[in-house]
Amino acid sequence: MKRIGVLTSGGDAPGMNAAIRAVVRKCIYHNVEIYGINNGYQGLIEGNIFKMDVGSVGDIIQRGGTMLYTARSEEFKTEEGRQKGIEQLNKFGIEGLIVIGGDGSFRGAQKLTEKGFPCIGVPGTIDNDISGTDFTIGFDTALNTIIEAIDKIRDTATSHERTYIVEVMGRDAGDLALWAGLADGAESILIPEKKDDLDEVIARLRRGVERGKRHSIIILAEGVGSAFDYSDQIKAATNLETRVTVLGHIQRGGSPTANDRVLASRLGAQAVELLLEGKEGRMVGIQKNQLVDHDINDILTQKHSIDEDMYKLSKELSI
Ligand code: F6P
Repeated sequence: MKRIGVLTSGGDAPGMNAAIRAVVRKCIYHNVEIYGINNGYQGLIEGNIFKMDVGSVGDIIQRGGTMLYTARSEEFKTEEGRQKGIEQLNKFGIEGLIVIGGDGSFRGAQKLTEKGFPCIGVPGTIDNDISGTDFTIGFDTALNTIIEAIDKIRDTATSHERTYIVEVMGRDAGDLALWAGLADGAESILIPEKKDDLDEVIARLRRGVERGKRHSIIILAEGVGSAFDYSDQIKAATNLETRVTVLGHIQRGGSPTANDRVLASRLGAQAVELLLEGKEGRMVGIQKNQLVDHDINDILTQKHSIDEDMYKLSKELSI
């Protein structure tokens, strides 16, 4: 393989730039030409493709977002859109494609592989919702952003003796809420994997009040529902003064943590190695700190699950 393409797709995640850098530098290390595709699959369809060199990825390892821009392309979900993408790849003489993104992006990569175009997926999403890898690029940075925000919210929650419901991202997954809950000592967490927990949250709040506790932080994963609805229900059941903070897209930005930079560098470089070994339709991941790769079909059919021990621990420590 003499020419590889790289794109980022779906929601951006801090560390994507470090992954792009690793892909580019690893290709150059192996004397393989590397082409960047702007705007994800939409840019692929439109032929928004350019040759990259060592300098293209200088000074980006510390930057959030993605220098290749990103998009969620509706057109690429169609057979015609994918055909146009393949035509562009052929036109530029690209023989293999590295897709950095989440499960929606991998669906596209799998379709291209089925059509005979070799693709490798690199998991990049703050949600940490992909099976076959312990961590996705961006999760650690988003988690640290959440923790910094909640530390600040706790100050005012304590001063005003209020109950705060903090809504965090994660799409259908509860990892951000679960890890933030443990790291922040939240009184309760609400995650989609454990939907029936509101009664328990209310019971905990009541027990806390009886013990003289005057403020609480409840972290709610967006996949559970709206923090405002839960706030109303909690207020109605406990009569506590409640406030809601929806952290929103602040969670997706910022300079990547050391963990995300290292993870992204390892996964990006490994994706190049796999293509050069002749592998296709695989996702690179990290499990027990070892690089692994899995069939993308398996990744797409297996559901990511939360760490039950961590969930249990978060409850034990926030009595
Ligand atoms: O997948 C990353 C993510 O930030 C999710 O946590 C969130 O649900 C979604 O993207 C938001 O998407 P958008 O930026 O398109 O509003």
